[in-house]
Amino acid sequence: MRHIMVLNAKGGCGKSTIATNLAVFFARDGHETCIADYDPQRSSLDWLATRPHDLPAISGVPAYEEGIRNVPRNTEVLVIDAPARVHGTELNELVRRAETILVPVLPSTIDIKACGHFMAELQEIGKVSRRQARLAVLANRVREHTLIFEELDRYLKHLKVPYLGALREAQNYVRAYSRGMGVLELPEYLAWPDWQQWEPICAWLDSKRSQP
Ligand SMILES: Nc1ncnc2c1ncn2[C@@H]1O[C@H](COP(=O)(O)OP(=O)(O)OP(=O)(O)O)[C@@H](O)[C@H]1O
Ligand SMILES: [Mg+2]
Repeated sequence: MRHIMVLNAKGGCGKSTIATNLAVFFARDGHETCIADYDPQRSSLDWLATRPHDLPAISGVPAYEEGIRNVPRNTEVLVIDAPARVHGTELNELVRRAETILVPVLPSTIDIKACGHFMAELQEIGKVSRRQARLAVLANRVREHTLIFEELDRYLKHLKVPYLGALREAQNYVRAYSRGMGVLELPEYLAWPDWQQWEPICAWLDSKRSQP
């Protein structure tokens, strides 16, 4: 089973939004997919509860209660939605659960600074420094041609970690979440710019580069 975690100690950077969209990508690709929600806010599980029955099924487990338990046996991909504000021992424990870790970062000075501290903490974890867990970063809620996005883009390019590109700020994410869907399941005429932005993320996840 693959374990793919969306992680950043900074709150509100899009972890749950990206986790739900990742689960949709794998489920549509024919993989048995489960979401483990480590966040007592239950954003991913609430999303799952509204998922239409005619779309590819995704299961969910409340990992915030007692860790990853009762994952359906045939699960091929476990997408893990991490909570905010994890550091130290708790962060170490979380990182043990995944071999692929995606870190979303918002275009804001506070988030860029926080990301610097978080990446430093993450890279000190043995599993990450030994490359037994593969990291990548992506920008989220981006408005192109803004100075702050240019700053974030420059910052992410200079990190020694794969940079998978940017997801734009779009109502499609809000719309998809409220319907239990991913942007890949919205109509093409609405969501094609988002589909394009997901391509490099999906390609990295499908490649050996995202797996130790
Ligand atoms: N690309 C996007 N475009 C528009 N809105 C977005 C996008 N990504 C996330 N959002 C919105 O930003 C808010 C925070 O996103 P989300 O809940 O996914 O972040 P989070 O990192 O899981 O937060 P927390 O740290 O509280 O768990 C939500 O209202 C979500 O709908
Ligand atoms: Mg969340």
